[in-house]
Parts: sequence; C-alpha cells; structure tokens
Amino acid sequence: MTETLKTHVLVVGGGPGGYVAAIRAGQLGLDTILVEGDKLGGTCLIRGCIPSKALIHVAEKFDGMVAASDAEGALGIHLAAKPSIDFAETVRWKDGITAKLNSGVGALLKKAKVKTVAGWATFSDGKTCSVATAEGPVTIKADHVILAQGSEPVELPMLPFGGKVISSTEALSLDTLPRSLVVIGAGYIGLELGSAFAKLGVAVTVLEARDRILPLYDDALAAPVRQWLGNAGVTLHLEASAEGLDASGALRVKGKDGREFTLAADKILVTVGRKPRTEGWGIETMAVDLDGRFVKVDDQCRTSMRDVWAIGDLVGEPMLAHKASAQGEMVAEIIAGHRRHFQPAGIPAVCFTQPEIVSIGLSPAEAEAQGLEILVGQFPYMANGRALTLEGDKEGGFVRVVARKSDHRVIGIQAVGSHVSELSGEFALALEMGAMLEDLAGTIHAHPTLGEAFHEGALKALGHAIHI
Ligand code: NAI
Repeated sequence: MTETLKTHVLVVGGGPGGYVAAIRAGQLGLDTILVEGDKLGGTCLIRGCIPSKALIHVAEKFDGMVAASDAEGALGIHLAAKPSIDFAETVRWKDGITAKLNSGVGALLKKAKVKTVAGWATFSDGKTCSVATAEGPVTIKADHVILAQGSEPVELPMLPFGGKVISSTEALSLDTLPRSLVVIGAGYIGLELGSAFAKLGVAVTVLEARDRILPLYDDALAAPVRQWLGNAGVTLHLEASAEGLDASGALRVKGKDGREFTLAADKILVTVGRKPRTEGWGIETMAVDLDGRFVKVDDQCRTSMRDVWAIGDLVGEPMLAHKASAQGEMVAEIIAGHRRHFQPAGIPAVCFTQPEIVSIGLSPAEAEAQGLEILVGQFPYMANGRALTLEGDKEGGFVRVVARKSDHRVIGIQAVGSHVSELSGEFALALEMGAMLEDLAGTIHAHPTLGEAFHEGALKALGHAIHI
C-alpha cells in the first residue's frame, strides 16, 4: 500500500542547496520534508568539494615529504627514505570525513524537525511526487516544492564513462593510484585533481580544447598555476581534443594544427564541465520553463510554476555549493513570508590548485569592457612576510584590488597564491559591504598574515603602498 504524506514544503535533493533550504524552513517552523536518493550532503560533501580537498591535503603532505627526502630539501628537513602511500588507506580516511559530515547533516535536519525520506522522487505533477523507499512507495503532496537536484558530470560521446574512463566521482575513490593519468579539460576539476595526482607521483597529462588553462580566469591569474604544472612535470596539450580509444585502449588525440597522436594511460579522467540534472525525475510533468539547459528562475528562485522553486546548479552558473546554500536559505525565508531577493554583490570563486586562485566581482578587463574608469592595486605575494614563511613565494602570486575611479568603491578582487583561499571571506565581505579603498586602507590587518597583501593592494590603488 502506498503511504501518502502531506507537507507545506518539499525539498528534493540533499546537497548544500537542498539541506540548507530544509533546515532553514524547519527553523522557521514550516512543516518540511526532504527527499534524497543517495547520501545526505550531495555532490559537495560526498563526491566533490570536500573529498577533493581531502585528497589535495594528502597530496600536499606527500609532496612535502618527497621534497624532504630529496638531497636539496630546502627547509632543513631531511628524510632518509622516500615516503610511500597506501592509497586505499587515504581513501578510507577521506570516506571517514564524508561519513562524519553525512551524519552531521542528518542530525541538523532532525534538530530542525525536518522529515527525511530516502529514495528517488519522481513527479507526476508540480506538487506531487512518488518515492520508492526501502519500506515501499511513498506519495508526497506539498504546497511548496523546492527543486535542488544539482548537476552531474558531462560525458564525452566518443569516450563514455566506464572502465579506464572515469569522472571525478571515481577519481576520488580509486583503490590504488594509477601510474599514469590523462585528464581531459583544464578547468576547475581537471586541474585540482590533476595537480593532486601529480603530487602523489602519478604521471599526469592534461588535454585542453582551448588555447589556455582555466579559461574562467584571466591570464595573470592562471599563469602561476601554469608555471607550477610545468615545474611539477605535468604535460599540457592545449588546443587538443580527445577522439576516443584505439584498439589497444590508448587515447587518440587531435592536437594543434590537426596533428594526431595517441596517449597510453592507466586512467582517463574526463572533466569537461557539469550539467544540471533536469532529466529522469518528471520535470516534463511540471509547468516549469527552461532557460537553455537550466531551470529558469527569477531573482527569488521562483520557477514559471506557482510555488515551485529551484536553486543551485539546476538554475545556472556559477555551479558552486555556496551559491546553492545561499539560495536555499533565501527561498525558505520567502516561503515563510520574509522579503528577500538573490542579488549578491558578488559570489566568490575559489580554485584549489597550486597555487590557489580566488576571484570575486569584476576583473580589470571586465570592468573596462563595461566602460568603467578604474583604479587597480596589485600587491605581489613575495613582498608579504607571511607568504614567505609559508613558502608561498615559489610560484609568485598577488592580490589585486579593482575599484571605481570616481568614488573608490571596490568592484572586484582577485588573488593567486598559496593558501589564498582563506582570504575569500574577507574579499566577499568587502564587496558585499560596499567597501571603499579607504575602508580597506583604514582597517588594521594583523601582522604577519596574508591579509596584509589585501591591505597593501588597496594602498597601492590609492597610490601609497608601503611595502613595494
Ligand atoms: P570547467 O568548466 O571548469 O572546465 C572544463 C574545461 O574542459 C574547460 O577548460 C573546457 O575548455 C575544457 N573542455 C571542454 N570540452 C573539452 C574537450 N572535448 N576536450 C578537451 N577539453 C575540453 O568544468 P569542470 O572542471 O568539469 O568543473 C565543473 C564545475 O564544477 C565548475 O564549473 C565549477 O562550478 C564546479 N567546481 C567548483 C570547484 C570549486 O569551487 N573549487 C571545484 C571543482 C568544480
């Protein structure tokens, strides 16, 4: 027999967008059900942001030990033998972190009095779905539906996932380290994971269809990452595309000027983007319009159907966990009667490569393309004492502040350097609070910290940096 549940708010998808929406709705006293077919936490917690950062951390430690075992270990630390790694143990450690976060999300939902239903939801109309749970079918009817199904890796038609061709999901759960890895796509995921595997001693080759790496960022921001890849022995083929596997299982590649060659590799990691998950759950039974491949929403995350809302990767770029959770929180508050709109001054993007990149707001080129007259202050990492103590000067790097010339309002901040991701919060706060260059200049930054580079960037834009 089918059980029928009625609720005020139904959230579909237990990733950062969905679970934050559900927790906030529960906190606001709204009767809320969350449906998740896999594990609570979604791509971010289970097979994306968190596991990849765990792997990157292990790779950094291992790389440091390899350096210490080399004759020219620069820090005065010397190891008598090369380190070894048991990758299955690494993956178990990583799985321990995701398990902790997964049960943490479950506990938070419970505390907020949200009912969770485990299974995949299929809609039969805009406000009704059925879920095949382990205990039998459940029908859920809701006044409000929040769609938060997220996204999935894009597959290349000539190189379907399976066997040695893997997505980031499999790359984060390998039993053993491959000896060689070809990464297709030099974007966020390809370079974060490719760099980590290179540090773990894997021979990494990266193919990129465009003529540059990390096309999302400007050349100055991407250059230190490119330098590191070169120094680390990562082979990079730009303007190269994968054509499929040959009979021996090697990858056929069409390179620059149409030159064709093959690459043999233990694993081929395809990271050519992600696509919103708009199929397989009955979107066609809802009166919900699409905008290209995304679900169309307004600045309150309303879809074209009354009281059906959509958030996160489903509704457009940037496909970032923190955008999804901000939208989830907002939608829950709007349903509870608050007046809210999604109009952030900026959404920070962080790339956890070596070195790291942070960007929020407008780059100098984007500001100029809008016809704005700007002031730019760029402060080099190698002039920051704390960066030197963290070996952060090796690949260079800088913090760059972009402000409107007319009133000195900060409109963009970009940085590249070791550990610079930790400044993203201060950058976002400055932009969201509408800071002027004088506000940054007048804020005392603790010494010795990387944040001083931000302070100096503002001073530089004002024409009176102290340390350069
Ligand atoms: P991406 O869009 O960042 O990069 C894909 C790259 O693949 C591009 O450089 C593109 O030119 C290249 N490409 C596309 N087709 C190709 C082909 N056939 N052959 C060779 N190269 C090809 O996508 P990615 O890395 O898969 O990441 C997906 C999304 O996940 C990102 O947009 C981002 O929003 C999110 N993400 C965020 C992270 C973070 O915040 N730190 C980390 C990882 C992912």
